[in-house]
Amino acid sequence: MNPQSELTRNLPRRYYTEPEILVREREGALSTTWQYAGHESQIPERGDYFTFEIAGQGLFCVRDSERKIHAFFNVCQHRAHELVTGVGNKRVIVCPYHAWTYNLDGQLRYGRNLSSVPGLDISKICLTSAKLENFHGFLFVNLDSEARSMEEWYPNVHEEIREFVPQIDRLKLFRVEKLVENCNWKLSVENYSECYHCPINHKAFSNGIIKPETYDIQPQGYCLRHTTECQNLDKMSYPIYLEANATAGKYSSWYLWPMFSFQVYPGNILNTYCWRDIDVDHVEVQRGWFSVDGEDSEVIDALAEQDLQTTVAEDIRLVESVQRGMRNRGYRPGPLVVDPKGGVHSEHSIEVLQEWMRAGIQTQ
Ligand code: FES
Ligand SMILES: [Fe+2]
Repeated sequence: MNPQSELTRNLPRRYYTEPEILVREREGALSTTWQYAGHESQIPERGDYFTFEIAGQGLFCVRDSERKIHAFFNVCQHRAHELVTGVGNKRVIVCPYHAWTYNLDGQLRYGRNLSSVPGLDISKICLTSAKLENFHGFLFVNLDSEARSMEEWYPNVHEEIREFVPQIDRLKLFRVEKLVENCNWKLSVENYSECYHCPINHKAFSNGIIKPETYDIQPQGYCLRHTTECQNLDKMSYPIYLEANATAGKYSSWYLWPMFSFQVYPGNILNTYCWRDIDVDHVEVQRGWFSVDGEDSEVIDALAEQDLQTTVAEDIRLVESVQRGMRNRGYRPGPLVVDPKGGVHSEHSIEVLQEWMRAGIQTQ
């Protein structure tokens, strides 16, 4: 038996309550990891763009005239005005301040009276790009220009997702929900990364979608892979066809450290979680649902609605209570329930995740 001092304990409260920790995370983990920007189907045409934020930094993705997608920091190289807002389509990118004009590939094309400036070569001026990977149509950005590839960060995930979602190349965003949770982003991510709380808090999920007794979560590089079987067909809350393919009767999710998860419900239904830190005690959670060609699907729509009313609502109550608890002076970080055999009644995945969280506040 381990002495009490060797138990793995929950992270100290300051990780969830001190603004300084979030500042260090934004300089550390959040700007050196792969983060979801959006789906390529959101910008199908030349000149289409959408804006987003990572680690407090404004960025946008745009499709250029050769149809190539770029990710740029949303800032003019003259005197730092922001270039674009929201979503839209541009033939060229014109800065609202002094009208410097950029091509869609980021190259400065024109600025009034620039030719009068001795020694100024406009071909040397380009928007600052961010590293981008297109992962089955899902666009991920890393603010670290030296970042290793997603395959190195999350080994085998690319291939496994194709097995679970054979239709992945035809998927488009069908439905999205954005919610704000009154808690630190790490509480929401930790709650996502264990199912020790599922049997007592998620009745609809545990009784009508998956079999909790088969649930496990295992690390795979910087991914936490969730696996479980679907519930018995007579108890499933929506119809699935097991004969459709080898993975139709399974649930799996791939949480990609730090703020994204691909989740495949039985029946090969792909949906996603994306977290965005707002401040030390607020996080935005985006739930995305995908269908072939983005077509209306009654089954997916009903499942998304059920998920929102049950699992998502139940989790919000849990994480917001924990945030209040973290500010309670009576809290002493308790031991994690690390069962060496893993399984649903274990928090071994939290032990791994919190190691990444501790390392994530070191600036690199
Ligand atoms: S700041 Fe953009 S043109 Fe001046
Ligand atoms: Fe949950």
